[in-house]
Amino acid sequence: MSHAQGKFISIEGGEGAGKSTLLAGLRACIEQRGIALVQTREPGGTPLGEAVRGVVLDPAQHALAAETELLLMFASRAQLVREVIVPALQAGQWVLCDRFADASYAYQGAGRGQPVERIAELERWACAGIKPDRTLLLDLPVATGRARAAGRGDADRIEAEADAFFERVRACYRERAAAEPERFRVIDASQSPAVVLQAATDALAGLIGASRP
Ligand code: TMP
Repeated sequence: MSHAQGKFISIEGGEGAGKSTLLAGLRACIEQRGIALVQTREPGGTPLGEAVRGVVLDPAQHALAAETELLLMFASRAQLVREVIVPALQAGQWVLCDRFADASYAYQGAGRGQPVERIAELERWACAGIKPDRTLLLDLPVATGRARAAGRGDADRIEAEADAFFERVRACYRERAAAEPERFRVIDASQSPAVVLQAATDALAGLIGASRP
């Protein structure tokens, strides 16, 4: 599948990295440039995906096996790709996605120990060749992110994991960013929201320029 017209941007990061704040700012910046944008999230973004999200984040699902969790993430993703992402890109719209396949490598791979080859196989199948044109990784120390997230109320099933889990998640994201420097931009998320937003818009400048008539 080609997505030559629209651009696909994903935002990744650990707990409390400031994704939501950045997404709101970025959305406004992109739309101000006259670019039609679809904002979505993972797991979620479709009726099926939102139902999956409810299950995987529900603290009552303590018996959810790591294999099941991985498959549910990719079930949500397969649906999102076909129902939202591909149609938007084909219509020339940009897609701004709160997490994508990198999250499965970080959380289910590094976090839960699921085999990376298995995740890659699921990605090839579920994503139908769709990959972000740019991925912004909001990176910050685990303790800083967890202190921020603690102010948001009860932890969901994944937020309730131990620090060591999130250290593995962070290390995996950083390794993936280092391995694909063309696609990733790593942003120091311990900076103020305004500085993070500026860094993010700078990281998209090449794409915005390329999409102008
Ligand atoms: P968030 O988008 O509010 O951060 O919540 C989504 C949670 O789901 C977050 O803890 C990361 C987790 N997640 C995975 O474990 N694997 C995935 O593939 C995705 C997309 C998210």
